Amino acid sequence: MTVPVVTQMLKPEAAAMAQAARIFSLGGLVAFPTETVYGLGADAGNGEAVARLYEAKGRPAFNPLIAHVSDGAAARKLARFNADAATLAEAFWPGPLTLVLPKADGCPVAELATAGLDTIAVRVPRHAVAQDLLARFGGPIVAPSANRSGHVSPTTAAHVLADLGGRIDLIIDGGATAVGVESTIVACICEPALLRPGGVPRAAIERVLGRALTEATPGIAVEDAPLAPGMLASHYAPRTRVRLDARSVAPGEALLAFGPQGVAGSEKALKTLNLSARGDLIEAAANLFSHLRALDAAGVTCIAVMPLPHEGLGEAINDRLRRAAAPR
Ligand code: TXA
Ligand code: MG
Repeated sequence: MTVPVVTQMLKPEAAAMAQAARIFSLGGLVAFPTETVYGLGADAGNGEAVARLYEAKGRPAFNPLIAHVSDGAAARKLARFNADAATLAEAFWPGPLTLVLPKADGCPVAELATAGLDTIAVRVPRHAVAQDLLARFGGPIVAPSANRSGHVSPTTAAHVLADLGGRIDLIIDGGATAVGVESTIVACICEPALLRPGGVPRAAIERVLGRALTEATPGIAVEDAPLAPGMLASHYAPRTRVRLDARSVAPGEALLAFGPQGVAGSEKALKTLNLSARGDLIEAAANLFSHLRALDAAGVTCIAVMPLPHEGLGEAINDRLRRAAAPR
């Protein structure tokens, strides 16, 4: 469970902004205004900070997050731009447009922040406070809307405090946000597709592209919910069979362990990775997708997964493991 913290609320003066950047560097959580809604930020490269962020939002679900960067050049370190993406970035950044793009090689964003997907959502916010924070921190910041899971997005610092007070380190109070709805999300993977309507109207995007946006297709996560029930493709699914609640290891299997104890036949596992040897769910969440990927690449017949507790982040970890194990 989240350890209660004292949540400070400060105006965006230099000392507060420096403190916010320091908190990011230490793996903490800071809510800040963007031109759309307030975001809850964490260091995108720090898996444990990202795990804490999911936990602070409550009922964590590991929905992929938007990586916020200061400009197009910084965005190109995270994602690959095709011609449409370059056109849209040029026209609408900085501003309330998010692009979902193939991840760049060597993308420094934690696997957990992209929910193990090969794509990443990137956005260059226009708000002066968000820009200042990105410049001071010097790296990508992932930020979902700064509300508890299931609540509406906050457009004032008071909304954030009401939802997340005692769960995050700092709120930068930059007043009410101007746009008030979240960014428009467009995927530029093949034909540009509208994943979420938002601050940039569809017509403006279509005018710049010179053609109509296609509708979102199954396989891409949209607005906190899969497009169709059981739409498993929106999250990383290993090709190797996954066996849950493993109390023993069979020949030919790899072991995804949790906690200090092994299981019967642990020594027979062709490869073992531990989500958290000390049994810490935050560490486990941070390791989940990268460990699954590594075991998937190990050429084993099956990945046996030890049982994990269901409380706190355990709920989301178990949910993702269940999806990974679902028959395909
Ligand atoms: O205006 C905004 O976009 C605000 C401010 C803070 O920037 N942020 C925001 O984030 O609305 P959030 O997490 O509440 O919504 C992000 C949406 C989610 O619905 C998620 O599923 C989608 O973006 N998303 C993120 N990465 C994705 C990906 N790789 N593929 C498809 N959808 C993605
Ligand atoms: Mg949201």
